[in-house]
Amino acid sequence: MLYKNLGSTNLKISVIGQGATHVGSYAWYDDDKAKERIRGWRIGIEMGMNFIDPADLYGGGLSEELVCQAIKGIREKVVVATKFNPQGNDTSSAILAAAEGSLRRLDTDHIDLYQIHFPNPLIPIEPVVAALTQLVSDGKVRYVGVSNFSIDDLREMQNFFPPGIVSNQVEYNLIDRSPENETLPYCQQKSISVLAYSPLGQGKLSLDSYALQCLKVLAEKYQKSFFQLALRWLVSKSQVIAITKAANMQHIKENAESTDFVIDPDDLAIIDKFAMPEVVYIPIDRISINSPDGRPTYASIEEALKNAADLIPSPELLAQDLVKRKSAKPIQLISYNDPQGRYLYKLDPYDFLGQLRKYWAWVIAYGREKPIPALAKE
Ligand SMILES: NC(=O)c1ccc[n+]([C@@H]2O[C@H](COP(=O)([O-])OP(=O)(O)OC[C@H]3O[C@@H](n4cnc5c(N)ncnc54)[C@H](OP(=O)(O)O)[C@@H]3O)[C@@H](O)[C@H]2O)c1
Repeated sequence: MLYKNLGSTNLKISVIGQGATHVGSYAWYDDDKAKERIRGWRIGIEMGMNFIDPADLYGGGLSEELVCQAIKGIREKVVVATKFNPQGNDTSSAILAAAEGSLRRLDTDHIDLYQIHFPNPLIPIEPVVAALTQLVSDGKVRYVGVSNFSIDDLREMQNFFPPGIVSNQVEYNLIDRSPENETLPYCQQKSISVLAYSPLGQGKLSLDSYALQCLKVLAEKYQKSFFQLALRWLVSKSQVIAITKAANMQHIKENAESTDFVIDPDDLAIIDKFAMPEVVYIPIDRISINSPDGRPTYASIEEALKNAADLIPSPELLAQDLVKRKSAKPIQLISYNDPQGRYLYKLDPYDFLGQLRKYWAWVIAYGREKPIPALAKE
């Protein structure tokens, strides 16, 4: 395993971290699944992946409780990150209470990296900074990071928060390379870690056939899997750490072994050049938002604004962020033919709610006339 410093700190973290989503929830608790995830994280830690990334939102706090069991007796060997939800916790006292909740669920006296899960343009920065400053000075939080922040929001936090922001967690993989536009160059210049989430494209790195062929040839050359090569490519970039989610033991092992080889800079350049998927612009009326499990998905802008299903971040908050940053993360779609033979799209079911939020944020911000930027898979 390779290790990098977290931002400009002396804390060493494995370049492949372990994500803690998809753990179920208190209402849908599955004991066998929970035990298997705990066992998987423990094996991952033993194989050198010392960085683990739950959040108070994942499973409503269940992910932190399960991580607590995985790190029992080996707390000092593990760099524990977690995140707070800035939509539900929008005052200083609420953020302090959220941190206490995470500390309790993780059964630890400190969080190594405490992250703001996403920007909340509806709240002022001062109470957020006040709470984080207090947590650091009380020794309950070692370092502070952000997630899903634009460069402008990150700069603003840097200016207001003297201890400094050490990381920005953003989606980054072979098919979503948008961080390379601004986030990565800025973070590299400022020695801020870029924590790449969904580094395996949620298990579906659908590239065009030429790029796929290139990657397969290189994977064969290094005797590694396609996904191991995708991780190796990502973490070869300065400041980048990949946070994978793997429940399958073989995947955990492969991810832990994805950095145990040296990759030729010429091969990295080939991947850089050819794996550059195209963002397409899809008319809103060609996208079906039917939920794979029959859940309501909002039928109108008014319903999306009301957000009765309590999507977090809310479509309204995401719409504000969209307008503020003037750029959008592409929505992830799957193309299909309907019974009439029309070529249509549906939301990628892996992170269905994430795509649904992007859909409604776009419609709230720009209406139904403007096509939405998308990454479309077959
Ligand atoms: N900050 C944020 O807003 C945010 C948003 C999303 C995610 N995250 C973080 O990022 C982590 C990972 O994200 P993710 O789950 O979206 O994406 P991911 O790690 O790119 O993909 C996970 C999927 O890839 C599969 N997989 C894992 N290792 C593999 C391998 N070696 N070969 C083939 N398939 C493999 C997994 O299957 P199995 O599970 O069956 O092994 C799972 O289906 C999360 O757990 C979370 O900590 C953060």
